[in-house]
Amino acid sequence: MPETLLSVRDLDMSFGGVQALSQVSFAVPAGRITAVIGPNGAGKTTAINCISGVYRPRGGRVVFNGHTINGQAPHVLARQGLTRTFQNLQVFANLSVLENVMVGLHAVTGRGFVSAMLRLPAQRAEERRIRQQAREALEFLGLQDSASLPAGQLSYGDRKRVELARALVAKPKLVLLDEPVAGLNPAETEDMGQALLAVRQQGVTLVLVEHDMSLVMRVSDQVVVLHFGRKIAQGDPQSIQRHPEVLRTYLGGRDEPIPGLDMDPAPPQEAARA
Ligand SMILES: Nc1ncnc2c1ncn2[C@@H]1O[C@H](COP(=O)(O)OP(=O)(O)OP(=O)(O)O)[C@@H](O)[C@H]1O
Ligand SMILES: [Mg+2]
Repeated sequence: MPETLLSVRDLDMSFGGVQALSQVSFAVPAGRITAVIGPNGAGKTTAINCISGVYRPRGGRVVFNGHTINGQAPHVLARQGLTRTFQNLQVFANLSVLENVMVGLHAVTGRGFVSAMLRLPAQRAEERRIRQQAREALEFLGLQDSASLPAGQLSYGDRKRVELARALVAKPKLVLLDEPVAGLNPAETEDMGQALLAVRQQGVTLVLVEHDMSLVMRVSDQVVVLHFGRKIAQGDPQSIQRHPEVLRTYLGGRDEPIPGLDMDPAPPQEAARA
């Protein structure tokens, strides 16, 4: 059994009268991909925001790498090895692709672009290191040829990978991904899926919030299901696909099953033969 890198215990969060999270608990094993799924408004992004320090939870505990991190600022958490991407893409269109990735290291080294501008010798050396590390992150995601382009010129799919490169550049232990394939076409989704598996291969732990069930079922090691702010199920992808309450949540009241959550129907040719 791998050790637990992150655990969320009895997490509560509310906004005015809206209880966005109620007593949510789950553990994230090191080196694995944990998916968090659930219908719109289930509390997935709120959970990511509570873990990554955007919000301080109203109640409960977030324990990362043995330390309680409730309410710690995102840049402090980045230094401890916890980074994230955003549901609404956060890429600076006017900065180059390389500079967008370098931002992920400036956050960790604590030096901004202004101090880098002063160009003291030690800082110049550090700037070179930062550039080199950013190039390596781009290469890992196959974006090296776009390094000097303004990020705004890239396709949406490539910009999503730039954001992932920024989250990875400081070699974090844990990356939280809020809908990494939303808005991507099937080929881009496939690329992103491969990238996530390659990241896991490097020993990085991932928490993946996603609506694309076929991606979730393909890449995740465990799945946590939220519904109206509560955890309704947790397990491996196969058992989640058959979990009665998950099926009720996703299929109840809908005409169309959720793609990927359709209980593995036989391929059409076999169905025809049967
Ligand atoms: N900053 C906020 N202020 C007020 N209400 C909020 C805020 N953030 C989230 N909520 C509410 O909390 C609930 C959970 O929202 P959240 O964004 O976490 O859902 P989600 O599972 O990420 O949904 P989606 O799949 O649509 O992204 C919703 O009812 C939402 O309206
Ligand atoms: Mg969300």
